[in-house]
Amino acid sequence: MTTYDIPRPTEGDVVDLILEDHRLFEALLRDLRDVTADREAARAALATALIAHGEAEESKVYTQLNRKRAITKGEAEHGEEEHAEGNEKLLALLECKGTDTQKFDDAVEELATALNHHIGEEEQTILNPAKTDVSEQVRQDLGAAWLAMRNQLLDEDAGRIDNVRAIVARAHREGLLPAEDEEK
Ligand SMILES: [Fe+2]
Ligand SMILES: [Fe+2]
Repeated sequence: MTTYDIPRPTEGDVVDLILEDHRLFEALLRDLRDVTADREAARAALATALIAHGEAEESKVYTQLNRKRAITKGEAEHGEEEHAEGNEKLLALLECKGTDTQKFDDAVEELATALNHHIGEEEQTILNPAKTDVSEQVRQDLGAAWLAMRNQLLDEDAGRIDNVRAIVARAHREGLLPAEDEEK
């Protein structure tokens, strides 16, 4: 059994820290496609890292960048919608019983598509203004606040299926995803 050690720095520039996690997600997605990897372990690590990362972005980074006029409210909301879509794909992956099925492979690809899209857009529309429109000190402060929440969620194993289910249900209630009875 492979153990994935998710790095837990405690300080840094929020942009650098978020970019490091994005590269971690890409590496874990690669392992999820690799039949010789411990895909159960990679799935659990990705679930925890992804939920901790996104939840902490929403409460410690997006709102603050909007308040400092680096990003618009619309950009922050769009980021939250993309998190909700990614979390829904993550839940479908967590619900797969085994890892050596076509269903698992399809769920990995659906998550990868949503996640790669979000990572690209976030780097272009949210992290770029964070690099140019706020001070180094603000980036350090946001880095510390984001890490504190992210690391706490990692400790709480926020990627557990029951927690991901609750997060997806909340997104439906908040209108970030279509109401459950509207879905096909
Ligand atoms: Fe991110
Ligand atoms: Fe994000």
